[in-house]
Amino acid sequence: MEKADNDKEEPKDDNNKIQNNNELDNKDNNKDDKPKLPISKNQLKKMKRQEEWKQKMEKIKAYKKEKKKEKKRLKREEREKEELLNPKKDINETKPEINKDIPFKSRKQIKEEFKEKCRNGMRVIVDCDFEHLMDERCIKSMVRQIVDLYSINKTSSNPFRVILYGVGKQIKEGLEKSDYKNWIGVEIYFKEDYPTFDKFIEDILYKDDKRPMNDIKNNIYYLSADSENNIENVDNNATYIIGGIVDRNKYKGLSLNKAKELGINHGKFPIGEYLKLQSSQVLTTNHTFHILNEFSIKHDWKEAFVSIIPKRKQEENDENNDLEEDKKSDNK
Ligand SMILES: C[S@@+](CC[C@H](N)C(=O)[O-])C[C@H]1O[C@@H](n2cnc3c(N)ncnc32)[C@H](O)[C@@H]1O
Repeated sequence: MEKADNDKEEPKDDNNKIQNNNELDNKDNNKDDKPKLPISKNQLKKMKRQEEWKQKMEKIKAYKKEKKKEKKRLKREEREKEELLNPKKDINETKPEINKDIPFKSRKQIKEEFKEKCRNGMRVIVDCDFEHLMDERCIKSMVRQIVDLYSINKTSSNPFRVILYGVGKQIKEGLEKSDYKNWIGVEIYFKEDYPTFDKFIEDILYKDDKRPMNDIKNNIYYLSADSENNIENVDNNATYIIGGIVDRNKYKGLSLNKAKELGINHGKFPIGEYLKLQSSQVLTTNHTFHILNEFSIKHDWKEAFVSIIPKRKQEENDENNDLEEDKKSDNK
């Protein structure tokens, strides 16, 4: 019955509705059911200031946008002017002509051809069986040199058949970071699989060679700065071994002694015949490899030494540099 009476009530005007809503809001916000306080003068001032700040920021934003637009327009005009004064050549004009006589080669084909070139290339072994003589830092440096050596070979016009022999656990771990399993033109043999060099020669390197071991060994050269023999030329059918060690001259005669132990030839690069070095003639593994590769292409020792041995190691021995040196010592 009460409801029926309410239905009969006159509709309230809008102001009344707002008032009622405020009352409801007040009830929601003030859980204690306290009546809402009227806005103070200070609050009103604060609200006004906030409104003014908002308007000011909007003006700044619009101004910046306009400025950016203008800058872009000026730049475009500048570019158009420049193009009018120096018209660009037609792109097609600068395109190299495709030589239709040269057959197209896929990446796979190029890779296969490179692999084949390496297989038939001169055999170069990097003897990595010195891990036990190196600390962690030297091993890291050795790994870097192997990676460098790989990229020298990969970009060479005369790539070698590179064989990493006697690779131990730590070098293997280092090489894994360089994704060695996807390297092309490099064979890797682990120490655990081939504990002796003779077994490696028999099973892998000269597997199909029926000559007696002594004859085979006569075809192998261990490179060593301590050897009394000079390597005057390289033989494409021979095998060259480079010691894979970073020892900072700690183990003098190491590679020479290994060559003697294995009963194979040894020899050093004829550096002294072409250059005077500031320090010893002992080179790093990667530089030794690079020189060997460079010589196999140009057959010029001097050029190979000058271009690959680091400049700080090379003595300044041309006439002008001698004069400069004289001047320097006069001024002292
Ligand atoms: C850092 S050296 C190793 C030095 C180590 N004390 C030794 O006796 O082998 C690395 C390798 O580069 C090669 N090598 C360095 N200098 C050379 C040179 N002047 N002539 C030929 N091979 C060299 C050797 O095969 C050597 O084992």
